[in-house]
Amino acid sequence: MFTLIFKAIWLFMPSYTPNNFAVVTGGGMPIDLGRNFIDGKRIFGDGKTFRGFAGGITGGVITGVVQYKVEGIVGIQMFSLLSFNDAILLFFLLSAGSLTGDMIGSFIKRRLGFERGEKAPVLDQLDFLVFSIILASFHKSFFLLYSMEVLLLGILVTPLLHRLTNFIAHLLRLKDVPW
Ligand code: CTP
Ligand code: MG
Repeated sequence: MFTLIFKAIWLFMPSYTPNNFAVVTGGGMPIDLGRNFIDGKRIFGDGKTFRGFAGGITGGVITGVVQYKVEGIVGIQMFSLLSFNDAILLFFLLSAGSLTGDMIGSFIKRRLGFERGEKAPVLDQLDFLVFSIILASFHKSFFLLYSMEVLLLGILVTPLLHRLTNFIAHLLRLKDVPW
């Protein structure tokens, strides 16, 4: 069980880290260009920026590459079951899916009347993971690495991890609010 949890966390690291990188790289022009949706509220809000999106994807891919190298050093084989190029593509899909899910989550939050930065349980904790999985599942080797157990555990463990990492980011003053 423990090794399975470790495996799930390891395999979802490139889904988790893009949002943290977006926090540090974000700012500037919002993706919705400041425009409103037909309901008169912002499409995504000021919390979704081009810089955060690009920085987040870059950060997620870097995370994966570091993991790939670490696997070689400590002698475990997960991402390194794939060729380096196939792994890079997987990291890109996981990261891009994660930030796309985060953006769709914000879109839904705005429609439900949540202000930017306001906490939305479940949505905040799973939007990024679900879309990360959906996008990455197009990768030819996705199901070789992500078994049904790993996917299920990821979905169960992630809300807890998400709270923990955001709390740490808050303590480090990277985030205004602890969620
Ligand atoms: N961020 C960004 N671009 C993104 C995603 C995140 O610039 N595509 C940055 C923003 O500074 C954002 C912070 O990371 O405020 C935290 O991200 P998140 O919690 O997803 O955004 P919120 O500000 O909470 O906004 P929302 O209510 O829309 O989730
Ligand atoms: Mg938020």
